[in-house]
Amino acid sequence: MRVTAPQSPAEWAAYYQLRYQVLRAPWLQPPGSEHAPDDEDPATCHAAALAEDGTLVGVGRLHAATAAQGQVRFMAVHPAWQGQGVGQAVLTYLEAEARHRGLTECVLHARAAAVPFYERAGYAVVAPSHTLFGSIPHFLMQKPL
Ligand SMILES: CC(C)(COP(=O)(O)OP(=O)(O)OC[C@H]1O[C@@H](n2cnc3c(N)ncnc32)[C@H](O)[C@@H]1OP(=O)(O)O)[C@@H](O)C(=O)NCCC(=O)NCCS
Repeated sequence: MRVTAPQSPAEWAAYYQLRYQVLRAPWLQPPGSEHAPDDEDPATCHAAALAEDGTLVGVGRLHAATAAQGQVRFMAVHPAWQGQGVGQAVLTYLEAEARHRGLTECVLHARAAAVPFYERAGYAVVAPSHTLFGSIPHFLMQKPL
């Protein structure tokens, strides 16, 4: 497994498809809801984890929320690949990019079920944040880089 930026049109299509499949479809959100307005901003960094055969198995993205702070969003690992280090590899890639940009901390809004994953990666809960789709509590988490 390796982590890289999506490049070909097929990789970009798979990237958004996986985001939709993991983060939107289970809550019956419409196709297109997986896109964010700043996805195509050149300053947004996208990470794609590819299996040995090139299959996309995990995604995530990073943008600079402030001059010092990176924000990770849209972390998603294919259900068949969860718990095998893919999410950690995507997060490590995004944090390396943040450090490369001179950012000194990383924040994210974690779904409640994902909080232990981020704690394992060195993040700490700062405060409860929003509730998504009326049912998924989120927590603001932070990690010094
Ligand atoms: C959350 C998610 C991105 C984590 O990715 P993953 O590939 O499953 O996680 P990893 O295998 O890289 O886990 C890394 C470590 O965190 C631990 N971990 C992962 N998920 C965990 C959980 N829910 N509870 C406790 N520990 C967890 C793993 O055991 C592993 O620890 P280890 O190194 O001691 O073995 C992935 O499970 C996912 O896409 N979930 C559904 C969508 C989602 O919630 N996305 C995040 C939105 S904020």
